[in-house]
Amino acid sequence: MTFAHTLLVVFYRTMSTASTILTPLGVRGMKILEREKFIRKIQTPVLKVPAEKLSKITPNCKDYFLKLENFKPVQNDSDNKLKCIFFNPDKISMYTDISENHRQGLLHVGVTENNFELKDIQLSYENWSYGTIFKAVLPENEDIVSGFTQVGHIIHLNLKDHLLEYRTLIGQVLVDKIKSCRTVVNKSSIIDNTYRNFSMEVIAGEEDFIVTVKENQCNFMFNFSEVYWNSRLGQEHERILSFLKPGDVLFDVFCGVGPFAIPAVKKKCKVFANDLNPDSFKWLNHNANLNKLNMSLFKSYNLDGKDFILNNFKEYITDYCLGKEKLEKGAKLHITMNLPAIAVEFLKYFNGLIEDQSLDEKLDFEIIVYVYCFAPGDAVLAAKTMVIENIGCDISDDIIDIYDVRNVSPKKEMIRVTFRLSKKVLFSVRNSDSEPPKKKLCLENE
Ligand SMILES: C[S@@+](CC[C@H](N)C(=O)[O-])C[C@H]1O[C@@H](n2cnc3c(N)ncnc32)[C@H](O)[C@@H]1O
Repeated sequence: MTFAHTLLVVFYRTMSTASTILTPLGVRGMKILEREKFIRKIQTPVLKVPAEKLSKITPNCKDYFLKLENFKPVQNDSDNKLKCIFFNPDKISMYTDISENHRQGLLHVGVTENNFELKDIQLSYENWSYGTIFKAVLPENEDIVSGFTQVGHIIHLNLKDHLLEYRTLIGQVLVDKIKSCRTVVNKSSIIDNTYRNFSMEVIAGEEDFIVTVKENQCNFMFNFSEVYWNSRLGQEHERILSFLKPGDVLFDVFCGVGPFAIPAVKKKCKVFANDLNPDSFKWLNHNANLNKLNMSLFKSYNLDGKDFILNNFKEYITDYCLGKEKLEKGAKLHITMNLPAIAVEFLKYFNGLIEDQSLDEKLDFEIIVYVYCFAPGDAVLAAKTMVIENIGCDISDDIIDIYDVRNVSPKKEMIRVTFRLSKKVLFSVRNSDSEPPKKKLCLENE
């Protein structure tokens, strides 16, 4: 089972490699991986020293070690009493390239230029890192691999057009070089479908999209091609979870496969988790079992967020006010709304949700909403304006926090607005039409 996700971000340009000895030659433009073409013979400086003095010698040599994959910079010489210390030929070509200080240190243990020689070695595909291989193969002076992320055993890339013809090679090199990777997919960077999943093409490895990842001490299993998962949100999930206390209630309107919901149940919160995507719903329930949740604390729904708010959330509030639902003293109700492209548009359903004004005085717990949005430019102000406009009520005094979760692209921030959902909003008197107007004044009924 693979869990840990790794977030690897590589963003560099291929530079002319003429100045380095440590690069494969003659492979630029290769489209189909031919591993045997990565053999290169190089001459590398070596210090031959007595084995028993090694511990005193290496501190003076470490900075110059020849560091390559599957290569030990300190090896036995054919004469077993000696050790060979291999130096990086890009750093050292003659003995005096070793710093004065280090040479003095070596002299103290009897090592001099006489111990220094040049040796021929043969490097091959196994010795080059994927970064070195990409620099040697892909077009010079171009951005090469801009950001890739690993989810379980899958690495997903978002290749620029000029690299598409190299995708088979790029994928194969990553499968070869990253031990935990079995599948490489290329995806479109734009998530614009309802369920926020990517369309993706397997460019190397097995066509196996079922991954298991660990986040906030819970295991999540899902088909990566069917549902939304973003490893970059792990910390934000953790932050929200830190606000939840045992006995609190969570309504997760757009829950995905459960990164808020599952750990929240583990924290002994009562959770109502909803997602419109039937596959998310399926994996959410799978993850509930996988994590051995206390099912009396967990309910899942496969609804549109609008209906979840207008029916299920409303019913909970009403039942509580009628004494059919109980909450421990001091417990809070939290509502997470992570669908940044459109979540704010669902805020209007809270406005005037409870028509029965007689319930007002029975509602005696705090409700906190965490709504996410994408905002450009002055993101904080833009996010606040969006929330107020969409909920249709000036809730400025109820805003607890406006938090910049992450930078999505140069002009796009993912922002979380945290606010208290007041009785003023919930019991606001509505017009007769069922869709609440986008902007309306809340009555001062508190
Ligand atoms: C950005 S993902 C967030 C998933 C999860 N909460 C997380 O933090 O990783 C948004 C989720 O909303 C779901 N979704 C999209 N439109 C929806 C709607 N109208 N009602 C309910 N869920 C919806 C998608 O299927 C997706 O799983």
